[in-house]
Amino acid sequence: MTNPISTVHDGDVLVVVSNNPPVNALGQAVRAGLQDAIAQGLADDSVKAIVIRCDGRTFFAGADITEFGKPPVGPSLPEVLDAIEASDKPVVAAIHGTALGGGCEVALACHYRVAVPSAKIGLPEVKLGLIPGAAGTQRLPRLVGAEAALPMVAIGNPISASKAKSIGLVDEIVGEDSLAADAIAFARGKIGQPIRRTSEGTANQDGVKNPAIFDEFRAKNGRKMRGFDAPNAAIEAVRLAGELPYSEGVKKERELFTQLMTGTQSAAMRHYFFAERAANKIDDVPADTPLIPIAKVGVIGAGTMGGGIAMNFLSAGIPVTILEMQQEALDRGVGVIRKNYENTAKRGRMTAEQVEAAMGNLSTTLQYNDLADCDLVIEAVYENMDVKKEVFGKLDTVVKQGAILASNTSYLDVNEIATATTRPGYVLGLHFFSPANVMKLLEIVRGAETRPDVLATAMKLSKKIGKVAVVAGVCHGFIGNRMLSPRQEQANALIMEGANYWEVDEVLLDFGFPMGPFQMADLAGIDIGWHRDPSKVTTLREALCAAGRFGQKNGKGFYDYDESRNRTPSDEVRALIAEFAAKSGTPQREISKDEIKERLLYPMVNEGAMILDEGMAQRASDIDVVWINGYGWPLYTGGPMFWADTVGLANVVSGLEKYGLPVCDYLRGKAERGERFNG
Ligand code: 3HC
Repeated sequence: MTNPISTVHDGDVLVVVSNNPPVNALGQAVRAGLQDAIAQGLADDSVKAIVIRCDGRTFFAGADITEFGKPPVGPSLPEVLDAIEASDKPVVAAIHGTALGGGCEVALACHYRVAVPSAKIGLPEVKLGLIPGAAGTQRLPRLVGAEAALPMVAIGNPISASKAKSIGLVDEIVGEDSLAADAIAFARGKIGQPIRRTSEGTANQDGVKNPAIFDEFRAKNGRKMRGFDAPNAAIEAVRLAGELPYSEGVKKERELFTQLMTGTQSAAMRHYFFAERAANKIDDVPADTPLIPIAKVGVIGAGTMGGGIAMNFLSAGIPVTILEMQQEALDRGVGVIRKNYENTAKRGRMTAEQVEAAMGNLSTTLQYNDLADCDLVIEAVYENMDVKKEVFGKLDTVVKQGAILASNTSYLDVNEIATATTRPGYVLGLHFFSPANVMKLLEIVRGAETRPDVLATAMKLSKKIGKVAVVAGVCHGFIGNRMLSPRQEQANALIMEGANYWEVDEVLLDFGFPMGPFQMADLAGIDIGWHRDPSKVTTLREALCAAGRFGQKNGKGFYDYDESRNRTPSDEVRALIAEFAAKSGTPQREISKDEIKERLLYPMVNEGAMILDEGMAQRASDIDVVWINGYGWPLYTGGPMFWADTVGLANVVSGLEKYGLPVCDYLRGKAERGERFNG
């Protein structure tokens, strides 16, 4: 194997260059190369300063995650970094792209950091269920203070070069196109000056002087961190950086890191990291498939869904034309979009100019002909096959040939929709999740005739608009909603058999979902699809509506709500449920939380297995990506299929059998062979 690290002399400066595509991960060869290069620089009297930089698209983007869980091969990253920091010749990190995780730690071990304006720097280990393991939790607070370090270590979002400069993480911003030369000049300017070692810094006095910042941080970010182990460990490590001598702090960091690395949460989150990237790949569509340029998008329907969908493209700078039947509907829809953007601006996440730029790309129409020059049209009309077919028939006659026609259907047969056109190869489903401008998930529904370039284009576009896309086959409810059905069925059955509905919700909350099925029903509105005839009551939902219990919107649904939307279980609802159960003759019994959990979740795994068996998902990990991004499945369990692997498929099968629930042959076969869904 060729050495990914090379060195070049520029007068009295030694430039150490890493070239380890695609992201300069700090694998064993890189670590060994860095160690040798530093030793070479120290041994050579003609070298007075050292620059470390990377070729390719980025500075080191972190430890090599593929090495995690395997026996370590030296030198370790901490060893290499200690050698860098110990150098008595100034060492400068020259940062472009993303200096993440171990990459940020390399930069912290250097004596100085320069960066191009577009660079991003961060410690995202927490997103892998970890904390930095090469002294990042100890060096960063010493350099920038605990308050600035906390969000970086415990939330893990990277910061811009200018922000890094403002907190003292970067010493100088250099030219976007002259990093190599500017870094050398900077290093040369430091020759002969006293060496500043980050591990000897003292900026963290803020955390010692005001220990309340740790609790305040916890309180402010509690919701984001709920259920995750790593953020608490991260906060603890940063706190200790202020209290312990450096060498002891590093020891403590290692302990916490090792605990997390060997735990189930990090395994699940590392699985997810690769799952999200695998989902990007379509097995039989080559990566170099030519794409269809998308310069203009049409959206049919200016309601909540259509408006949300349009915002995705507007935010990405792609012009959108929205079509509606009535001018009032258009005006209302445009008003909502503007308001959403203005709210985002109020929260400081958009500038007024960006709002106007997005709105400036929006046009509206009542005429199909105005969609003629769109490259992609997405319909978000009423979920009814006849209506959808009529829309697609019209689109087929007016929209230019070669354009993609997409349906936002959440259940319907995309192949049948495609028959309304003369170009089924250009038809596919783009299933957005509500609110469509916020939710990350996009199910790309592949019809029987959808062309490879249409699929590849949709996949690429999804990335451009910030979505996590997963390809699904045509089946009722695709991947996500199809798996939701058996869970809902069990939730309904459980409350008829004697489980309290709030216990059903609690079980899912405890598992890590943001809400349970009955809270969800209250949020969405119990009266959705209600026939509005209080005298006709055949289902529990109808009974709730007849009793004026429409959900959160009128303060009572399954739960009673106060003005601050705090919920309490309702005796009235409990009585209604008991009445229904009595009418149907369902015997009542105590139901344990374990039974509730297993009956809610195991049938989903079984459905997921059928989806795989039928080829409706390309891989088990795609199902995990759907459920984590679209339905709030807790990331730290890795998604339903990874979670099933950790439970053991044989246990899932015996659980389903215990409750008399169906087990498909695919799941049974895997369980019998002792296999897992994921690897
Ligand atoms: N290790 C191994 N492989 C990695 C990697 C890493 N740290 N980071 C990215 N890759 C791989 C990806 O799996 C992908 O492989 P594929 O092409 O075979 O699917 C390829 O590199 C390209 O990655 P992306 O598709 O994600 O490329 P983007 O350009 O969209 O994003 C990135 C680049 C922002 C660097 C993104 O890859 C990323 O966020 N990487 C992870 C960063 C990270 O978490 N670093 C911390 C690691 S843990 C650590 O450092 C511990 C330390 O404290 C000891």
